Amino acid sequence: VICAALWPDPADERCPDLFRDIAKKQMLSWATEHLNVASQESAKRFIAIQKKPSRLDDQHELRAALLDFIADFANWDNSTVKEYLDTSRALTRAAHEALGGAPGTRPLVVDPFAGGGSIPLEALRVGADAFASDLNPVAVLLNVVVESLDLGGDTIKDYLTVAKRIGERLAVWDASIFAKFWSRTIRCGGPSCGVEIPLIRNGQISKRGEYAFEFKRSRTGRVEVEESPTSPKQKRPVLRVVSGVSASSESTCKNGSVTCPVCSFTHRQAEVARQALDTGFGHRLIAIGQRRGDAKTYRAPSANDERMEVAKTRQVRTKISDYLAVPINSKRPSPAARGMSAVTRYGYVEHNQLFSTRQLDLLETVRQSIEEEVASLNSPTAPAVHILLAITLDRLASFQNAFCRWAPKGEHPVPPFGKNGFPMIWDYVEASPFGDSAGSWDGAMEWVRRVLEHLAASRCRAGTVEQADSQTQMVPNDAADAWITDPPYYDSYPYADLSDFFYPILRASLSESKHAVSGLFAHPLTPKDQELVLQPTRTTTAGPKDHDAYRTGMTNAFTVGRAVTRPDGVAVIVFANKTTSGWEALLGSVCDAGWTVTASWPIDTERESRAAGQARLQSSVHLACRPREASDGSLRTDEVGDWRDLLAELPRRIHEWMPRLAHEGVVGADAIFACLGPALEIFSRYARVEKASGEAVTLKEYLVEVWAAVSREALSMIFEGADASGFEEDARLTAMWLWTLQTDVATQEEEVGDEGDEGTEGKSRPLTGYSLEYDAARKIAQGLGANLENLEHLVEVTGETATLLTAGARTKYLFGKEGATATRGRPKKKAQIALDLGEGLDALEEQSGVAVREITGRPGATVLDRLHQAMVLFGAGRGEAVRRFLVDEGVGRNPMFWRLAQALSALYPTGSEEKRWIDGVLARKKGLGL
Ligand SMILES: C[S@@+](CC[C@H](N)C(=O)[O-])C[C@H]1O[C@@H](n2cnc3c(N)ncnc32)[C@H](O)[C@@H]1O
Ligand SMILES: [Zn+2]
Repeated sequence: VICAALWPDPADERCPDLFRDIAKKQMLSWATEHLNVASQESAKRFIAIQKKPSRLDDQHELRAALLDFIADFANWDNSTVKEYLDTSRALTRAAHEALGGAPGTRPLVVDPFAGGGSIPLEALRVGADAFASDLNPVAVLLNVVVESLDLGGDTIKDYLTVAKRIGERLAVWDASIFAKFWSRTIRCGGPSCGVEIPLIRNGQISKRGEYAFEFKRSRTGRVEVEESPTSPKQKRPVLRVVSGVSASSESTCKNGSVTCPVCSFTHRQAEVARQALDTGFGHRLIAIGQRRGDAKTYRAPSANDERMEVAKTRQVRTKISDYLAVPINSKRPSPAARGMSAVTRYGYVEHNQLFSTRQLDLLETVRQSIEEEVASLNSPTAPAVHILLAITLDRLASFQNAFCRWAPKGEHPVPPFGKNGFPMIWDYVEASPFGDSAGSWDGAMEWVRRVLEHLAASRCRAGTVEQADSQTQMVPNDAADAWITDPPYYDSYPYADLSDFFYPILRASLSESKHAVSGLFAHPLTPKDQELVLQPTRTTTAGPKDHDAYRTGMTNAFTVGRAVTRPDGVAVIVFANKTTSGWEALLGSVCDAGWTVTASWPIDTERESRAAGQARLQSSVHLACRPREASDGSLRTDEVGDWRDLLAELPRRIHEWMPRLAHEGVVGADAIFACLGPALEIFSRYARVEKASGEAVTLKEYLVEVWAAVSREALSMIFEGADASGFEEDARLTAMWLWTLQTDVATQEEEVGDEGDEGTEGKSRPLTGYSLEYDAARKIAQGLGANLENLEHLVEVTGETATLLTAGARTKYLFGKEGATATRGRPKKKAQIALDLGEGLDALEEQSGVAVREITGRPGATVLDRLHQAMVLFGAGRGEAVRRFLVDEGVGRNPMFWRLAQALSALYPTGSEEKRWIDGVLARKKGLGL
């Protein structure tokens, strides 16, 4: 993206010849000298160029060669390969000089929401200068390391020497032990029971060696009890570690409620929370992971093991615990984001409480060692080494806390951060801080080493890093050639809340040092008030952090961005959000700040979340923008667009764009949002858009038209060009709804913590209906000329969520019982559906064909209803009824029925019940002679 933003397009008539010449030379030498590092795909083109260099006189060939080069370079493995680095830097420089930059200078890329620093780092990699800022001190420190820390000289060497020494200084665990497994405990409230219940979510320890927890049972099947070796008289179930059993895993917790293995009494989530708040959880050591040769084995702890652990528990106030004595935000930031609030319901209200005493001891020991080692490091590298060690300690802390779970597949600890924030968990693992495992000091050091080596190979110079609110101008007017940034995604991530896990630990190491970075750590927690995120639960002196506050703040930031960008400069704004209001806020800010959107591309940017064991790429939309400015930098305000012209152009633009997106594999919600860019190209060209009456058109009004155009285009794609208007509104809505969700089934299956509202960790919640944000659903319906209010039997609305009911959940409605309960309350669970179905069908069979006639003759029965009826009959195994329905009743003679079936079959999620049913119906078509 940065290369494409900085280099002119040779096929653009305004491209300076000077750049074409140099680009041609570079690509020719690439074709002759560096072909060995090119990918197979692009090698073909370069070989052709080798044979006939004059091909590059063709501007389109030259463009294609540059794009091939960029595509290869974007492969992570090539990111530090000299040939790519040199060539890209030469091109960046050529572009800069050809576009009027002073010889020897470089273009400046500015990123005011720099986060982890990826954008400024890439700018430096391709030979630009970079200015990075962020509000958050954790982000700023990362940027300092990524862009500006001097890694030349002995920095990396000194870091490794000192870090190794610190590792050696740590007191040693039994070296063969790689992990200790703990469970939180509560006291059973069952009548005359009172045992100590170990809270175990998933009793499986290892998938490879098939280790699992198991309660010991007597011959009569009762769980045996014993006295706790650490608190005499306290009874508890006997828990063993067994091996060789396949997937038999015991658990005592489900969706936040806890069942006693001894008396079967179930404690609801609120009761568990109450006990935790009243007395705190107990902790029981439940297994020890011990290496035998190369093999990882697991055993139950002996009474002695347990007593030893308890003896080690003593709460002492240390420096690190002073810094960690800061509150955890107990408010859930927004419905889309949990932040760290989940744990506060169970009494974890201060950061210290996230760690066991032993872990705090460990972190303090390391902190002290860092302090001493750095003090005695007599070298100019000392400040840099200090920062790197502090970051290593922070990484260690992310693996050494009482919220790490164990991955039974890979057999390693997993840090607590999930997609939704920091979840509450019941059983946790304490990995050995020694040795080379993931949770160890050496493991953390190894990661830092790899980052440093990558950085050293990537940068040819340092960038500039500052802590700043993006609404404050930090760079002179017109200084930036490219303003490339990835601003906060509306309500999706509460960056500052989550960074508070890491901040106090860095602060404990660095705030008292004499380094320049110590100033970042003046406050006990990270700043939140100016953070540009939607957080309705937080109020600042300026008012609540609501939609308007986000929009205003973003407009300010984008206005500053336009001021610092040259009139002929370019901006790239990266954004991803699943809500229409998030997009409206962002696009409104872009327009209001005086930018014209000129292109938009969805690009997969997020790393697969391997930790959760699910492959998932997420794309974010990259909006390319230009300042709507005259060459003297003044805002152009005179262009007025005619509303009728816009309305005529919009569907054409969408019609060109959607098939292109589909061709690139972008479908569903991603495609809808990716259409907003081209739509905005039309709107944001103008300072003002007017109706014939002279009245100004708001962005909001325009977006209504955009949704409609997108919906119509999508529908005609779904029905492959056939006129979708022949279908009733319920069919159109269903098709469009499922199409929208295509890319999104994964996001419906939220990762949740142990106390999650529904579903289980690492597994997905079964699909009972298809949910969309209510506002998005309403807009889709509107765009299709459908009205959600009339479709109560198909769409259920609860709060902000609209759910498209599955065929199964509609059974009662479909089979003629008016006032059907299936349309109210939650979609039915499977068992219930089967029951309803049984009753309905028994009645149906009794009356034989008559019942079927009744169904089909019912007023209001639409093609979709009939299709759903056929699916339900098929799902219930009533093959004969399906035949009667399709043949005798003539339902199958309607071509619309089959066309809809075909379309929906392509849209139901693979593996879903509905997909199975609809394919079952389709499979009958031929056999029934239809
Ligand atoms: C989407 S993240 C950037 C991620 C980054 N591109 C990366 O690769 O790591 C957005 C960033 O905006 C920062 N931010 C939020 N409000 C801000 C403000 N008012 N001023 C400056 N930065 C802010 C957050 O701290 C966060 O780091
Ligand atoms: Zn009990």
